[in-house]
Amino acid sequence: MALQATSFSVQNLAGKTNATNLKDSTLFGVPLLDNRKLDITSSVSKSKMEFTRTKVFKAQAVATTSAPAVTRAAPEGKKTLRKGSVIITGASSGLGLATAKALAETGKWHVIMACRDFLKAERAAKSAGISKENYTVMHLDLASLDSVRQFVANFKQSGRPLDVLVCNAAVYQPTAKEPTFTADGIELSVGTNHLGHFLLSRLLLDDMKQSDYPSKRLIIVGSITGNTNTLAGNVPPKANLGDMRGLAGGLNGLNSSTMIDGGDFDGAKAYKDSKICNMLTMQEFHRRYHGETGITFASLYPGCIATTGLFREHIPLFRMLFPPFQKFITKGFVSEDESGKGLAQVVSDPSLTKSGVYWSWNKDSSSFENQLSEEASDLSKARKVWEISEKLVGLA
Ligand SMILES: NC(=O)c1ccc[n+]([C@@H]2O[C@H](COP(=O)([O-])OP(=O)(O)OC[C@H]3O[C@@H](n4cnc5c(N)ncnc54)[C@H](OP(=O)(O)O)[C@@H]3O)[C@@H](O)[C@H]2O)c1
Repeated sequence: MALQATSFSVQNLAGKTNATNLKDSTLFGVPLLDNRKLDITSSVSKSKMEFTRTKVFKAQAVATTSAPAVTRAAPEGKKTLRKGSVIITGASSGLGLATAKALAETGKWHVIMACRDFLKAERAAKSAGISKENYTVMHLDLASLDSVRQFVANFKQSGRPLDVLVCNAAVYQPTAKEPTFTADGIELSVGTNHLGHFLLSRLLLDDMKQSDYPSKRLIIVGSITGNTNTLAGNVPPKANLGDMRGLAGGLNGLNSSTMIDGGDFDGAKAYKDSKICNMLTMQEFHRRYHGETGITFASLYPGCIATTGLFREHIPLFRMLFPPFQKFITKGFVSEDESGKGLAQVVSDPSLTKSGVYWSWNKDSSSFENQLSEEASDLSKARKVWEISEKLVGLA
């Protein structure tokens, strides 16, 4: 596999190779090219590139006194500011933790870290230096629909407002030979990454509607790997929802396939399929609720953050070679800090309020509106994913 690695030239990776030559392997799985700097659809011309991150964060620092959250009257009759309240799922590591840190550091956000491992999340928050007053850890296991409902009940009971929800947590099982299942008997990747988040965001929508925060947002983290209009998205196994017969059957491996399209189990594909569902769900939320609620619905590709726990189930050789490969060969490496600042930007930047958008960043860290693949922007599929998912999580 390592030899295979060295046989690719940078030129090839930049898009001149036939994508089918990049057959997915244990080393060259999805994430090898999950790289925002190699996104062949990401031409600068598509976007306005409104803000570099540096500019945005400078702007925020200056804008302290004009921050938008204005809620309660001060004794002398003036309005006072309150912190934004944001839930981030999977904030115990990687992108979620870096985003929690970036937001908490501004002093303008209280982060609810929605995590399955309470102690790990507490330790992570401490080691990231997040001040106690800027975060709360709450238990959430997205691989259990009961846990999602319990989390929502606990959150409502806390009395906190909800201004922004970030659906970030994910599992990725590229080397799994056999499927594993959620507490509800649903294939784990789609069950966690898509269905857990689907139920969570549906149950919390009302809280967001009730928030008086000026810019309310629901952000669902996507990926380049689910987009077959990119080189990375063309590395087999490609994402493909097919006619969704497996999803309609409940992905239980008993009387239905464990794969959305009804095919044989493939852990890498299940992850990519779950990411298409994430991006389609965001668009269906936008179609159904943006006009009525004013909530901004958005997705993003955070870049190839080669060091995160997402790759924990990959073979050791992959985990060893992947970060230097991305850093020195493709030059597509994005640090956890950098990607966290990007996601924090999508949470809080006053210029990123457009709804129904899939954000990416360019080489110079400018955000731009990226184009989703045909399947990931197919509104009839978005509707179908929504309707089947409603049934699977018990909302219909
Ligand atoms: N890394 C990349 O290059 C890359 C590229 C494109 C997109 N993304 C996306 O970025 C997001 C974050 O991934 P990451 O790279 O930061 O990976 P990560 O470090 O592994 O973070 C994933 C988080 O999800 C949590 N999680 C997993 N299963 C869960 C469950 N059942 N309930 C609640 N939380 C659960 C993990 O909790 P534990 O800490 O308890 O394990 C962890 O906090 C994902 O949506 C991923 O698809 C990443």
